[in-house]
Amino acid sequence: MEERKGFGSNFGFLMAAVGSAVGLGNIWGFPNKMGANGGFTFLIIYLILAAICGFIVMLGELAIGRKTGAGAIKAYKVLSKKFKWVGWLGVASAFFILSFYCALGGYCIKYVVLNFGNLINAGFGSNGLSGADVFGGFMTNQLEGVIFGLIFVAITMIIVMGGVGGGIEKVCSVGMPALFVMLVICIVRVLTLENAVDGLKYMFVPGWAVANGVIEEAPNLFSVISTAGGQMFFSLSIGMGAMITYGSYLNKKENLEKNALIIVIMDTLIALCAGLCVIPARFALDPTGKLGGPSLLFVTMQNVFDRMGSVGPIFGIIFYLLVVFAAISSSISLLETVVAHFVDKAQDEGKGDKRKSYSLITTIFVAILCVIVCLDGLGSNGVWVPFQHLFAPDAIPTFCDCWLDFFDCISEGIMMPLGGLLMTLMLGWETGPDLVKEESEQEGNKMKSFGYFKFCVKFITPLCMALILYGQLKDFFGGLFV
Ligand code: PHE
Repeated sequence: MEERKGFGSNFGFLMAAVGSAVGLGNIWGFPNKMGANGGFTFLIIYLILAAICGFIVMLGELAIGRKTGAGAIKAYKVLSKKFKWVGWLGVASAFFILSFYCALGGYCIKYVVLNFGNLINAGFGSNGLSGADVFGGFMTNQLEGVIFGLIFVAITMIIVMGGVGGGIEKVCSVGMPALFVMLVICIVRVLTLENAVDGLKYMFVPGWAVANGVIEEAPNLFSVISTAGGQMFFSLSIGMGAMITYGSYLNKKENLEKNALIIVIMDTLIALCAGLCVIPARFALDPTGKLGGPSLLFVTMQNVFDRMGSVGPIFGIIFYLLVVFAAISSSISLLETVVAHFVDKAQDEGKGDKRKSYSLITTIFVAILCVIVCLDGLGSNGVWVPFQHLFAPDAIPTFCDCWLDFFDCISEGIMMPLGGLLMTLMLGWETGPDLVKEESEQEGNKMKSFGYFKFCVKFITPLCMALILYGQLKDFFGGLFV
């Protein structure tokens, strides 16, 4: 049997794993959710959840992956009788996330091009239109949406075809440090704008958003916890098998515990840094602009660049390039989660490394879903969405108000927290947490946090995750079923 090729170095692994974690979720989700949910209070709750759930699931997944040396589907099959199907849940989540992630990644590429157009005063720039008009026009231009979406899908495929060491690791080892430098450049520019400090107050000062009318009322503690929990899952790329897959390519001599901790910390730090860039920019230059979701990225931020004067397009290009990098390093991990399974299977059956063919086949399916999301244009074009017809037009719940939300709710809202919950139940109660200890202590490493890990994985983490899942269901379905 051919040898399974993995990461060339621990740095490469870290950049790929942090790259998977750092993505659109960090840029538009974290800073806004923090501001709207009590600022510093949210941060503290997020950090506690990251410690008792995020770190535990991250370490658990890396260990499962490295122990079995296989992608999510085979890993669960090898380890468990009761939970052997959980890997499939992960692969299905990866598909659904990819559908809208690639569409949004395509939008980011479009915005790099748009700002370039503004820089050289070409017809493909904003042509004097406001951020909202440009975005509205783009959303209803189905052909353009599909073309950019497919460009993003194709880039993702090409990198994954290159393999883990050759494609993913190389791209992330350059892309992630570059992303960080671009982020710092943007932060420095933004924080020196007048009124930028209001953005900092929005993000960090508890109660500021309510006192200043940015949001109507403070959410209750339960909803803050479930928002923070949902954000954490998506942001850390856990609960669906991406980290199992990356872990399976890691050398046995590397320290799993330390790596898990670094990934969680880096992801949170970069989310905070992204916040230091986008939120103050909105308060300084587009005080009525939306604070989260696609509109924050594509309307509010474009208005910000339009109002920066002649340097605006340059910062626009840097900023959207940074977002493209963040999105690509995440989408390749999603695609790899699916492709790894088929490549492993082919190798087990002695058919050799069929990575290129399987990457292509998987990508075709992803492309189909992505095209649906692009054609829908965030609901602008009224493409039929499942279940939507069951509701009156003014009572459509979030889970089916457009294709993006539909795929997002199934994957991020249900499958990921459910996958995380099942994983901890398996580790805590079926295989036993010793599995993680043994794997972490390969080649003389010591697992310092074992007592803590054991207690969390058995009791605390599953309990928190059940709560998060309940909160997410309630949020998404708007009290429909729960
Ligand atoms: N973590 C990514 C983000 O924050 C999204 C993602 C989820 C990537 C799951 C891979 C797996 O945007």
